Amino acid sequence: MSGLSFRRLAFMLLFAFLVWSSSTGTCHARRGKHWRHSRAASASLSKKKAKSHGSGSHHHGGSKSKSKAPSPPKQVTPPPPEKKGSENFNVLDFGAKGDGDTDDTKAFQAAWASACKVEASTIVVPSEYVFLVGPISFSGPYCEANIVFQLDGTIIAPTNAKAWGSGLLWWIEFTKLRGITIRGNGVIDGKGSVWWQDSPFDDPVDDEAKLIIPLNRTAEQNSPIPINSKLGSKMPSTKPTALRFYGSFNVTVTGITIQNSPQCHLKFDNCMGVSVYEISVSSPGDSLNTDGIHLQNSKDVLIHSTNLACGDDCVSIQTGCSNVYIHNVNCGPGHGISIGGLGRDSTKACVSNITVRDIIMHNTMNGVRIKTWQGGSGSVQGVLFSNIQVTEVELPIVIDQFYCDKGKCKNQTSAVALSGITYERIKGTYTVKPVHFACSDSLPCMDVTLTGIELKPLQERYHMYDPFCWQTFGELTTPAVPPIDCLQIGKPSSNRIQSDHDSC
Ligand SMILES: *[C@@H]1O[C@H](CO)[C@@H](O)[C@H](O)[C@H]1NC(C)=O
Ligand SMILES: *[C@@H]1O[C@H](CO)[C@@H](O)[C@H](O)[C@H]1NC(C)=O
Ligand SMILES: *[C@@H]1O[C@H](CO)[C@@H](O)[C@H](O)[C@H]1NC(C)=O
Ligand SMILES: *[C@@H]1O[C@H](CO)[C@@H](O)[C@H](O)[C@H]1NC(C)=O
Repeated sequence: MSGLSFRRLAFMLLFAFLVWSSSTGTCHARRGKHWRHSRAASASLSKKKAKSHGSGSHHHGGSKSKSKAPSPPKQVTPPPPEKKGSENFNVLDFGAKGDGDTDDTKAFQAAWASACKVEASTIVVPSEYVFLVGPISFSGPYCEANIVFQLDGTIIAPTNAKAWGSGLLWWIEFTKLRGITIRGNGVIDGKGSVWWQDSPFDDPVDDEAKLIIPLNRTAEQNSPIPINSKLGSKMPSTKPTALRFYGSFNVTVTGITIQNSPQCHLKFDNCMGVSVYEISVSSPGDSLNTDGIHLQNSKDVLIHSTNLACGDDCVSIQTGCSNVYIHNVNCGPGHGISIGGLGRDSTKACVSNITVRDIIMHNTMNGVRIKTWQGGSGSVQGVLFSNIQVTEVELPIVIDQFYCDKGKCKNQTSAVALSGITYERIKGTYTVKPVHFACSDSLPCMDVTLTGIELKPLQERYHMYDPFCWQTFGELTTPAVPPIDCLQIGKPSSNRIQSDHDSC
């Protein structure tokens, strides 16, 4: 009882802090910038109609007859049964056209302004319509709690460079809210192909690609080297995340599809209580830097029953995350499920209590991976990877404490300390190397437990390697296939030195 009320009090205090920090912290400036661009974006969009790039025909509603638009359906779904007297705000009633061509940003802003004032209200984005919406922020902190964003239609991003000013980090963001739900069977389409084509040669490409050496030159032709855009529109070098939640409590995302993001598809930063289920993320395997779900500084996160197909990590868990539970997820194509890269530029990283279980990975670069940069501090503690089924995965199990996507990084003694990492029932086929454990010389990996590892080679286009371990200590509780003789049983003889300021 008292535990519960203490938790509630702690939540409220934290929220109050977030609200306070919004008026003083650095994120304020960032948000201000975002809004400025967003206004400019709507202005320029309303003048200039976005061009269709011939890919819109598969979206429902794209060929909708004109006569349908003036009679908006009043209510698509009933209000959530548990909330009494909740109100609906249909974007069509706020002037949205939903023809896939007219800029509907202002209508969405107006609908939000109204919904924000009513507790447990619902914004309705009806099915059969395609809404062109520029960069937009659905922003608290003075909104009422438990707003529902009922997305049954399609929202598409502008593809003209002008809409994005000099570059934005997000397209659609929800910030500083208590209880926010996005649900429905609608689609958020970032129209990312115009961004992927712009050659980002200075963009980081996954470091693990270096471990993969094709047998054949022909295989290399499949590598995601971007082709120059033939459209002539130069998109900004900063690519936006499609959907981002910041500084919010009790966030739910369910039912929807997020596709073709210019960069990451769904991001949570500084959120507590996140639930994501029965969603789909979809973008091509060769679309650069398109993470599926990205978690940062977020706690109590549940992700399940979800299909993730993208060009980078299916799920990426960054610093400040704890109590993350991911299960029943299909991943592929993509780079697998990753913790990190942590500790970049000598930063301190803290990640703990992460469970990833009952996952199916097909045709991914990595399976489950922990990557840290040299020179960082802090720790990763308490990670369980369980029942991971891999097929045609290049590197199913990876710890890389020498992560470096700049090509060359100098050796440093400081490192993010890794301990209590358990792998159980990791089974299936690999194409390059079953296990790659590269741990820090000064802070070896500790308590790495392997149980029920059964990985078989699938010789295709790559050089195959045996399991690799460097400074990795722990135990094998059952014989592994293939044998992982390189794991050092027990603990390192010299105690690791981890100073107090490094502890999390
Ligand atoms: C989040 O949801 C839980 C459970 O419904 C509730 O107890 C808690 O008060 C909510 N937190 C906030 C900040 O609204
Ligand atoms: C670890 O996280 C799970 C949720 O994923 C939570 O139920 C559990 O209480 C957490 N354990 C600790 C020790 O915090
Ligand atoms: C850095 O350390 C690794 C592992 O000990 C070693 O293989 C590599 O040669 C070192 N590189 C340099 C530049 O010292
Ligand atoms: C290597 O490339 C040739 C074509 O140049 C192709 O026929 C052959 O199947 C490739 N071998 C492998 C192992 O992929």
